[in-house]
Amino acid sequence: MKTTFSIIKADVGGWPGHALVHPDLKEIARTKLTDAKRNNLILDFNIAHCGDDLELIMTHTNGVDAKEIHSLAWDTFCEATERARDLGLYGAGQDLLCDAFSGNIKGMGPGIAEMEFTERKAEPIVAFLMDKTEPGAFNFPIFKMFADPFNTAGLIIDPSCHDGFIFEVWDIHEHKNVMLKSPEEMYDLLAIIGAKSRFVIKRVFPKPSSKLPKDEPVSAISTEKLYQIAGEYVGKDDPVGIVRAQSGLPALGEVLEAFSLGHLVSGWMRGSHNGPLMPVGLKDAQCTRFDGPPRVVALGFQLKNGHITEPVDLFDDPAFDLTRRKAQDIMDYLRRHGPFEPHRLPMEDMEYTTLPKVMKKLGTRFKKIK
Ligand code: F6R
Ligand code: MG
Ligand code: MG
Repeated sequence: MKTTFSIIKADVGGWPGHALVHPDLKEIARTKLTDAKRNNLILDFNIAHCGDDLELIMTHTNGVDAKEIHSLAWDTFCEATERARDLGLYGAGQDLLCDAFSGNIKGMGPGIAEMEFTERKAEPIVAFLMDKTEPGAFNFPIFKMFADPFNTAGLIIDPSCHDGFIFEVWDIHEHKNVMLKSPEEMYDLLAIIGAKSRFVIKRVFPKPSSKLPKDEPVSAISTEKLYQIAGEYVGKDDPVGIVRAQSGLPALGEVLEAFSLGHLVSGWMRGSHNGPLMPVGLKDAQCTRFDGPPRVVALGFQLKNGHITEPVDLFDDPAFDLTRRKAQDIMDYLRRHGPFEPHRLPMEDMEYTTLPKVMKKLGTRFKKIK
């Protein structure tokens, strides 16, 4: 059977500031999706949060970009926004950019990661939820999982992984995509995905030699960029991603290992700073110091006939204590740089800033150096 796994997320109000999702908003989402499940619109769901982002994790058989699923998510966010307004939550409705839903939630503010695939006999699947960062934050770990043999032993040892994978990369400035094979084109792949504010991994596919269907993704990432959609800064584009694991794919532990560095990502404080990505359990998925640091939650499910088990909160584990400790040291070190690069983003990446105004103000005072 073919199942669609969709994560649709939005920040519809922070509690307090941009720290966390209020429990009332999660409750509204739970009620709404319980109804949708009862009416057979979706097969199953889980409601979660990372920082101030409300995350709807849903399974169904409607395929990707399904109008009825997107409209369900949109209505859920609208109801949650009303409650956020009543409670006086911060930035209520900030990620809902348009007043009326027009059939597809893409480009309207919320982030979406979706994929449709044929379920295997047993289907382990992980939902990754990030806050205070951008879609390019997934480039490093997705590359590690599916292309780096120092991370994923299966690329060497498991004959069904040995041929590697195909990466679909989006140029989010030019709205173009390219398919790149690993390991054959690994250096070309790295040459572009290292520029993570522009080139983002959108999906990963099996190679033709794999037993898995070639046109069904094994991973998908949200690639919305709110500031590009809205033309000006209106909030963050905190991303989500889906990764399937085991049996010809990276093992669950190889998938999680890719987050053990606390790698540097962009989007911390005012969308304008670099910081380490700290893997945390749900109980620690609230952004505090300097609105951060950027965080990632991993919820692991087994999927069967479109139904998901209760999630396992995979980073809520002492095995990631050292990564967290290291991330805290890096955070402290970077903070000492204040407004200096590379803690602050380079000028061309500043999405929420007075810099253009400062430059304009100083305009005529800049004199040619003789
Ligand atoms: C929001 C974020 C925060 C805000 C900051 C200023 O996701 O990253 O760091 O940018 O708290 O927020 P405003 O301008 O709403 O006061
Ligand atoms: Mg917010
Ligand atoms: Mg957020």
